[in-house]
Amino acid sequence: MIIRKSEQEIERMARSGELVARTLALIGNAIEPGVTTAELDALAEEFIRSQGAEPTFKGYRGYPASICASPNSMVVHGIPGDYSLAEGDILSVDVGVTLNGFVGDGAFTFPVGEIDPEARRLLDTCRVALVAGVEQARSGNRLTDISHAVQQATEGPGFSIVRTLVGHGVGRAMHEDPQIPNYGEPGRGPELAAGMTLAIEPMINAGSPDVFVHDDEWSISTTDGSLSAHFEHTVAITTKGPRILTTAPGVDLAAISGLSAG
Ligand code: MF3
Ligand code: CO
Repeated sequence: MIIRKSEQEIERMARSGELVARTLALIGNAIEPGVTTAELDALAEEFIRSQGAEPTFKGYRGYPASICASPNSMVVHGIPGDYSLAEGDILSVDVGVTLNGFVGDGAFTFPVGEIDPEARRLLDTCRVALVAGVEQARSGNRLTDISHAVQQATEGPGFSIVRTLVGHGVGRAMHEDPQIPNYGEPGRGPELAAGMTLAIEPMINAGSPDVFVHDDEWSISTTDGSLSAHFEHTVAITTKGPRILTTAPGVDLAAISGLSAG
């Protein structure tokens, strides 16, 4: 069952989303060679709690940290630790915040210093794929219109979609219906309607789409060792079209990270 939110509830979710964006900005500004992912996690947790909010991920099914930090060939759910960032790395950071009973969920893949042109193209493609998916989050469309748009934007430039991981509805719970695959024929699944709030999150690989779960039972990496990117927004479907909730006034993650505008 897809839970639709009232306008008031969407305003509350926008406050959660704003905190997600501000947390990602804080992390983006702290990223540099030599910083460990555990340090980024501590920074995020302290900031989120200072705002009267909770890091949604911490304790979720036993997850031990406040953010996910997944370097290079790691796709998602990397547990922060003593991994020290190096020039040329990419780092996917996923943040969940619960404020006033509602969850905001967002992710951004940051370059560490100068990265290879092919890595940059991967990040740019994933950002474009996310925007293409968000554009389809309109009442009257069907769910897989989002999926199809993400797939087209990813495979056109020659990258692959991770098929075993999906986006999701989000609200009072981090994971609500529906599941949102990042590939598929358009025009399938439930009809979209105003009040639905969706976490749209393409996860794309430079090589094969295949992934595996590490022994820690959380971290997921590409099987062939190729780079992977992950961008995510929480989006509300409104009568005026899609509204991105994981954004904040004055916060421009692309500018912070040195990626091209957009
Ligand atoms: N944003 C992720 C998701 O959509 C994060 C969940 S990771 C966990 O599933 F640590 F919270 F489990
Ligand atoms: Co999510």
